[in-house]
Amino acid sequence: MGASAIREILKVVSQPGMISLAGGIPAPESFPLELFRILTDAVLSKYGAAALQYDRTEGFAPLQSVLASRLADRLIPATPDQVLITSGSQGALDALGKVLIAPGDPVAVESPTYLGALQAFNSYEPHYRTIETDDDGVIPESLEEVLTAGAVKLVYLVPTFQNPTGRSLSRERRHAVAEIIRRHDALLVEDDPYSDLRYRGSPLPSIKSLAPDHVVYTSTLSKVLAPGLRIGYVLAPEPISRWLVIAKQGVDLHSSTWSQALAAEYLSGGHLDRHLPRILDFYRPRQEAMLSALAEHFPPGFTWSRPEGGVFVWAQGPEGVDTDVLAHECLRRGVAYVPGRYFYPCPGAGLATMRLNYTMADPETIRRAVRIVAEVMGGAVGAPGPGPRP
Ligand SMILES: Cc1ncc(COP(=O)(O)O)c(C=O)c1O
Repeated sequence: MGASAIREILKVVSQPGMISLAGGIPAPESFPLELFRILTDAVLSKYGAAALQYDRTEGFAPLQSVLASRLADRLIPATPDQVLITSGSQGALDALGKVLIAPGDPVAVESPTYLGALQAFNSYEPHYRTIETDDDGVIPESLEEVLTAGAVKLVYLVPTFQNPTGRSLSRERRHAVAEIIRRHDALLVEDDPYSDLRYRGSPLPSIKSLAPDHVVYTSTLSKVLAPGLRIGYVLAPEPISRWLVIAKQGVDLHSSTWSQALAAEYLSGGHLDRHLPRILDFYRPRQEAMLSALAEHFPPGFTWSRPEGGVFVWAQGPEGVDTDVLAHECLRRGVAYVPGRYFYPCPGAGLATMRLNYTMADPETIRRAVRIVAEVMGGAVGAPGPGPRP
C-alpha cells in the first residue's frame, strides 16, 4: 500500500511545472556523460568481448578488487573475493531477505526506515520489531530492549544520512550499537548509500568497522555515480556471504558485466575521487537553500532535521497535522513531497511527518517550493502566512 501511494505521487511529479521534493534520485546533471563516452571505448579496448559475456556471480574481478581497496580506506578490511557485487544495494537487501528471513521471523528496523528495505523484506514475511529513534539516530536503549525481548534474525539500520530522515547515528551511539550487537551475538545489516555525500562535519566510523563479525555492510554506486548502472555491493561474514552468492545465482546469475566493467574503469581511474567534490559542491547549496527556507517560512510548531549530508530533510508538524491530506493541496499548488507515514513499519505512525528531497531542483526553485509547502502547513495549523520570523 505504502509503495503504491508513493508511486502515485511520483507519477504526478513528471507533470510540467511540478517541483519535486519527493524523489530520492540524483540530479541528472551529476552524471559524467562525456567521461562515459570515453570509458566505453576504454572498456572495449581493455576487456573486449569479456565485458559483454556472462561472468561470475560474485562479480567482475577488477570491480571487486577496486571496491575492496576503497572499503579498506574506510577501515573495513575486505579481500576482493569477499565483495559480492549486487544489482544495486536493493539486490543485496532482497538476497539478505531470501537467505535470512522465514515467515514470521522477527526483524528489527528503525522507525521510520527505508521503504525499499521493507519492500524487499516483506516478500519473506517477517514480523517487524521497531527501534525508537531521535535526532541522533537509533536510541541504543531501545535496541537493547528489542534484543532483550527476544533474538531477531537481523537488525536493519541506515546509520548515515538515513532515508527518510537524513539523520546520522552519533559517534557515541555507533560504539554503543556495536557493543550491544556483539553482546547479544546479533546480526546487523548496515545499509550505507549516502556517507560519501557529506557537505559538512567529519566522517563517522561505519558500524562494520566496529563489529566486523556481526555486521553485513552494503553500499552502492547509485548516489555517487549513476543508479542506472545498478551496481551495489555487499560484504558479509561467512557463511552468509556464501548463501548470498547462491541466492543471487538463482535470481540473475550475475549483475551486468558491462556496467561492472564501466564502474571498474571509472573507480580505478580515480574519477570518483575527482568527481565527488563537484557533486558535493552541486548539492550543498541546494541543501542550504532548503534549510534556510524552512527556517524562514515554516510555521511555529514544526521541527526538521539538519543533516550534514545525504539527500533528505525530515520535517515534523504538531499533532493533528496530516501530511498525507496536505500533500494533495501541495500537489495542486505544484509541489510534491512524500508524507512520512509510509516509512513507518506500523500503520498509524508518523502522520505529521514528511520527507523533503533537495537534489532535483536548483536553490531558487527549492526556496519557492518550501515557501508553498509552508503556506499549506501554516493554513492547516492556523498560523499567520509565511514570512521572516521576528
Ligand atoms: C537507504 C537505501 N538503501 C538502498 C537503496 C537502493 O539503492 P540502489 O538499489 O540504487 O543501490 C536506497 C535508494 O534510495 C536507499 O535510500
